[in-house]
Amino acid sequence: MTIKAIVFDAYGTLYDIQSVAAITEDAFPGYGEIITQIWRIKQLEYTWLRSLMRRYRDFEAITRDSLAYTLRVLGLQHDIGVFERIMEKYLHLDLYPDAAATLAAMRHRKLAILSNGSTGMLGALVRNSGLDQVLDATISIDAAKIFKPAPEAYALIETVLGVPPGEVLFVSSNPWDACGAKAFGLNVAWIERLSPEAMALACVESDLIAPLTMFWALRTQMDALGPEPDFRIRALSDLPGLVTSQARRQP
Ligand code: LAC
Repeated sequence: MTIKAIVFDAYGTLYDIQSVAAITEDAFPGYGEIITQIWRIKQLEYTWLRSLMRRYRDFEAITRDSLAYTLRVLGLQHDIGVFERIMEKYLHLDLYPDAAATLAAMRHRKLAILSNGSTGMLGALVRNSGLDQVLDATISIDAAKIFKPAPEAYALIETVLGVPPGEVLFVSSNPWDACGAKAFGLNVAWIERLSPEAMALACVESDLIAPLTMFWALRTQMDALGPEPDFRIRALSDLPGLVTSQARRQP
């Protein structure tokens, strides 16, 4: 395997997305953890849903929409200042402790980021953390207007760096991203930060929110994806009445 470029995922791989938890907790005491988790889960979900719906909006907009969703389903009132303060953290996420030293140790190689992040927010984050000093390129999927794990997103590596997939080592801690990159044909290093043993232990030790409540928060509330249903009903049994009243309205 000849490796001519090492390309990193950004959020969750070089940058710790959990580092928003301090600010979400500060803004909404007692809710920091749940906001942080629902926000990230919905943020990723919206990238995939929008790709499938062919309704691209960039990652900054999606990050806003998913934060708005999260605060809404948790019933948290807020003003615009609080919202913007939380969003701002996305431009100043903490690097993983070993990120800067790892990149510096390989700086003689071609190094890049390929991220779902929008050009603006990703560029700001990279500059604010000083990684622009060691990276040869910061590639946003904005150019393809489709999110990883779509093949078109990974294809941008060759377009920008001129290095074919077989000569790229792609590094991600996101399992879906590692699978997508491998399916596309890149060499992949998956960072398994949480061992199966630690995962099993966490299951035993923590239960901050009932799993059913988590499911409700993620899967039963209207999404912030743009299109709105024409009608909202509470039960199937509302349907005959709705259909009848609509039929009466027809000329
Ligand atoms: C990235 C996120 C989605 O592409 O992990 O950086």
